[in-house]
Amino acid sequence: MTDRLVADAAGIARAADLLRGGALVAFGTETVYGLGADATNAKAVAAVFAAKGRPSFNPLICHYADAGAAFADVVPNDAARSLAQAFWPGPLTLVLPRRANSSVALLTGAGLDSLAVRIPSHPTASALLRAVGRPVAAPSANRSGHVSPTTADHVVEGLAGRIAAVLDSGPCVVGVESTVLDLTGPPTLLRPGGIAREALEAVLGPLGTAAAGAAFRSPGLLASHYAPTLPVRLNATEVAGDEALLAFGPPLPGAAAAFQLSEAGDTDEAATNLFSGLRTLDTAGARLGLRGIAAMAVPDAGLGLAINDRLRRAAAPRG
Ligand code: TXA
Ligand code: MG
Repeated sequence: MTDRLVADAAGIARAADLLRGGALVAFGTETVYGLGADATNAKAVAAVFAAKGRPSFNPLICHYADAGAAFADVVPNDAARSLAQAFWPGPLTLVLPRRANSSVALLTGAGLDSLAVRIPSHPTASALLRAVGRPVAAPSANRSGHVSPTTADHVVEGLAGRIAAVLDSGPCVVGVESTVLDLTGPPTLLRPGGIAREALEAVLGPLGTAAAGAAFRSPGLLASHYAPTLPVRLNATEVAGDEALLAFGPPLPGAAAAFQLSEAGDTDEAATNLFSGLRTLDTAGARLGLRGIAAMAVPDAGLGLAINDRLRRAAAPRG
């Protein structure tokens, strides 16, 4: 029921046709796989919320082929222009005031007067967006609350039969979602992601971070998220024989199963492997009857900030 499309010219053309016809198509980006829908078609966007089981107060990111197309739907300011110059195309999402004449369906932005826009750098995603010629709304292509997909297989595991197709462009290189930055007021980091905070600050100066109450401004910041089936324990300094280990650097001894994020302790490499690692340990844990995942500490620098954000959500009480 869900077609697997090869990311060649024919596959991209087919995916674009499906999207323009109002169907849901998952596609690879440099960060994670997105669940795409024509952002100007409220019915298609509603189907995204239904396929994911996503609360409809949680707004979606609009994807464009280039900054010119994005800035036709939102009003850029100086910070947005500088950041677009420095980081687009790439894993940075900007929240900006929505233009009154934008054709993006209100449901895409969950009725907010701002809109989150992003220009992915993955060549397949770029070619697809060019072929569609309309903004494409795309949350991560997973069931709401579950681990984000970084391969086409992950997408099929969660959404087979619920979407028309998945465009397989291979494993995602960045591995964590885009950084979400609110520029509707003083620049505020809503979600750490694929562009490091340090890199943004090199362009903008010191950034504010969304604090308590931010869940209202960026509803995707719900505490429990990215959750594997097994409970996750953070900052492990030892591991029990009935636990799975998510290792970073030299692994702790004694785990029943282990997944190495980065032997060399590199946070970029660890981000690439994070979601695959959680899925692999979840599967091993179910097979071996383990009680949980023990995650070793990752430093907060570079993409470590995004990794720790996702791990904290994976470890948060489920509700
Ligand atoms: O890397 C990514 O960003 C991936 C790929 C597919 O592009 N997409 C993604 O989308 O992670 P999603 O929907 O899972 O996360 C979007 C985040 C959520 O935290 C949402 O609340 C926030 O962006 N967001 C979207 N529109 C917003 C807005 N107008 N104001 C504040 N936050 C917004
Ligand atoms: Mg998501």
